[in-house]
Amino acid sequence: MLPPETALWNFVEASVRDVFRAYNFQEIRTPIFESTELFARGVGEETDIVSKEMYTWEDRGRAESDKGQSLTLRPEATAGIVRAYIEHKLWDRGLNKLYCIGPMFRRERPQKGRYRQFYQIDAEVIGPASSGSDSPARDAELLEMLATLLDRLGIADWNLELNSVGTSADRVAFNEALRKALEPVKDVMCADCQRRALTNPLRVFDCKVPEDQPIIEMLPRITQFLGDDSRKHFDAVQEILTKVGVEFHINDRLVRGLDYYTRTAFEFTHGALGAQNAILGGGRYDGLSEALGGPPAPGIGFAIGEDRLVMSLKETAEGVLRKPDVYVAPMAGMNGEAARLARELRRHDLVVELGDDSFRLKKSFEAATKAGAEYILIVGENEVKADAFALKNLSTSEQVQVARGDLAGKIRGQ
Ligand code: HAM
Repeated sequence: MLPPETALWNFVEASVRDVFRAYNFQEIRTPIFESTELFARGVGEETDIVSKEMYTWEDRGRAESDKGQSLTLRPEATAGIVRAYIEHKLWDRGLNKLYCIGPMFRRERPQKGRYRQFYQIDAEVIGPASSGSDSPARDAELLEMLATLLDRLGIADWNLELNSVGTSADRVAFNEALRKALEPVKDVMCADCQRRALTNPLRVFDCKVPEDQPIIEMLPRITQFLGDDSRKHFDAVQEILTKVGVEFHINDRLVRGLDYYTRTAFEFTHGALGAQNAILGGGRYDGLSEALGGPPAPGIGFAIGEDRLVMSLKETAEGVLRKPDVYVAPMAGMNGEAARLARELRRHDLVVELGDDSFRLKKSFEAATKAGAEYILIVGENEVKADAFALKNLSTSEQVQVARGDLAGKIRGQ
């Protein structure tokens, strides 16, 4: 990642921190690698992430006890955050809204918007049910926060796709129905789907093979198998979203590619991104803490693909990229005076690029133009004596003499 684009990343992260603060989220930083078992148990053995995409190695280890431990570069943040929640008993500290920003790793086929090291902005609401963590109000609040964030970043045209994948109890009947429906057709499907049909039929919905799509279109949908509680929860989420004015579309094919989801599942897509059009995805994972050996702790969260978010921002990004306000050009022997002046101007929060007294005036002008500076400020012996400096606007060519004390104000256009 190179400048000037890195300024966009900083703009995104600063906006995220601001918006998340208003919803009372606090930052957590989890390790870049953890035990392989955490992800296998958390994300699910049969998912593409665990079965094909993880960067896993056996640790050499100094101590006998470390030898042969299997470690993995984190492919996502949720499992690590829930591990930390359990390990540090975060419920005792009343910490139930957490976010994390950082790199994730998946061995996928690279293409536009899909990388092997990519960045996620991940947020989770997790806690004992007594903290309200299983309420549909949390789902709606999280989705409304995302709508607010995207609007604030100037990303129009996002589309919220919403589904419920039910509880694990709802899915017993659904999986049964899927197996039955797949039985007569699975042999003509791709090798992955043939395997999924036996081990974890829900994962068939992750299939991207075009020839399999007509078959998948005909399969039963989870929405037909939702129990009363799941249905009520799903309806309540929709009701609040409608009340707060967040638009959504129901997509009953959306099951998300990770096994921990229960009930609400969602993605935000953006048209300009092409094939990899999901800017972010998330959902509920009410049983994950228990699956990882912790206490019951319903939770819901999401991860934004920061690379994709920045891509969808590029068109509107002009204003974020700050060029130097002024290029300070010292004449021969004036490096010290120029440095003093630059120091004063930077204290006024101006972006200052400093030249060198070995440059001829022509070279200073070229350097200032190349840097994109708005003004050039000439620092010569006479100027220093007079305590007033020649300030030239590089786009209008207007040149004025300005007293030292008035420089910052003039540069700022006051
Ligand atoms: P995910 O859908 O696997 O969910 O990833 C979330 C987002 O990360 C995707 O929508 C996409 O924008 C971005 N992403 C994923 N893979 C890549 C890649 N190879 N290159 C670029 N961007 C990518 C999760 O990871 C869940 N942990 C989200 C979550 C949090 N659910 C509950 N809490």
